[in-house]
Amino acid sequence: MAQEIFDKVNALLAEIENAAPSSNEEVEQFRIRFLGAKNVLKPLFGEIRNIPNERKKEFGQLVNSVKQSAEAKFQALKSQADEADEAADAGNLDMTAPGEPLSVGSRHPVSIITNRIVETFSRIGFTVAQDREIEDDWHNFTALNTPEDHPARDMQDTYYLMDDPEKLLRTHTSSVQIRTMENTKPPIRTIFPGRVYRNETISARAHCQFHQVEGLYIDENVSFADLKQTIEYFSKEMFGHNTKIRLRPSFFPFTEPSAEVDISCFICGGEGCNVCKYTSWVEIGGCGMVDPNVLENCGIDSKKYTGFAFGMGVERIAMLKYRINDIRLLFENDVRFLNQFTSAF
Ligand code: DAH
Repeated sequence: MAQEIFDKVNALLAEIENAAPSSNEEVEQFRIRFLGAKNVLKPLFGEIRNIPNERKKEFGQLVNSVKQSAEAKFQALKSQADEADEAADAGNLDMTAPGEPLSVGSRHPVSIITNRIVETFSRIGFTVAQDREIEDDWHNFTALNTPEDHPARDMQDTYYLMDDPEKLLRTHTSSVQIRTMENTKPPIRTIFPGRVYRNETISARAHCQFHQVEGLYIDENVSFADLKQTIEYFSKEMFGHNTKIRLRPSFFPFTEPSAEVDISCFICGGEGCNVCKYTSWVEIGGCGMVDPNVLENCGIDSKKYTGFAFGMGVERIAMLKYRINDIRLLFENDVRFLNQFTSAF
């Protein structure tokens, strides 16, 4: 009696090993027979009471191994069947089916604004140049009339390289003016977009990294009127044709005279709102006539040439344009935030 049951179990084991279903349907039948709710192995567990005590353990192990073989065989059959299905599908590719949608992404707001600035200045003949973010003291400060111990350095504390304290992360794109003037003869009419760094505590309004676009125009007879005209052209292109500009006297070590650039508030049109803090004006950058010392530092004859320079913050313009109230959002790379921006505004 006991041997008969053992034989039955061994026969099932052989059946499992030899099973070779040729369709998904047959694989399903295999599953129902050996692993389904009413599978053929279940009653065998009940047979244990007919097995003599000394063979009970052997029997239990045998039935369990049959169950495991059935599971392993089923997994193998299923993956074979899936592969066969895929191969069959590939053969039956429906060329008329609609395509899978491809997500193309969108440009970062900082890139959108930078491109827009570059494009606006390109239209009046400015070329574009970029240079290193790791600078030396000369190009970032000293050549720009800001020698060591000059108080203007305090406003631009930055990060210094540990293995070369002469090197620092540039605090503004004005360093690229110097590099360009050292290497190019006037006329020079170029803008310099790029990332800059400052040792700032990060908050909604300030970050330790941001982007600027610097502009430089050096030639014979360049005057403050040319500077004003250029800033006005840019502001109208960027913020709308009703935009007015205001140049507020200021100080930068590398320009003389210097001014802050304000534009009339394009949100309220001068009525007063919380973007312009009820002043009707918003500051977008700084500018001035390049100091003759700076020209001479770069080997340019300041008797023959004059020029103007300006610099503006890209995040500042992006935040104004898109009404973003926290600069950190621009650096967190959260796709839910970033995919709200398109090139058009
Ligand atoms: N480099 C200045 C800054 O980061 C901005 C600036 C002001 C650039 C006046 C200029 C300029 O070229 O003429 O604060």
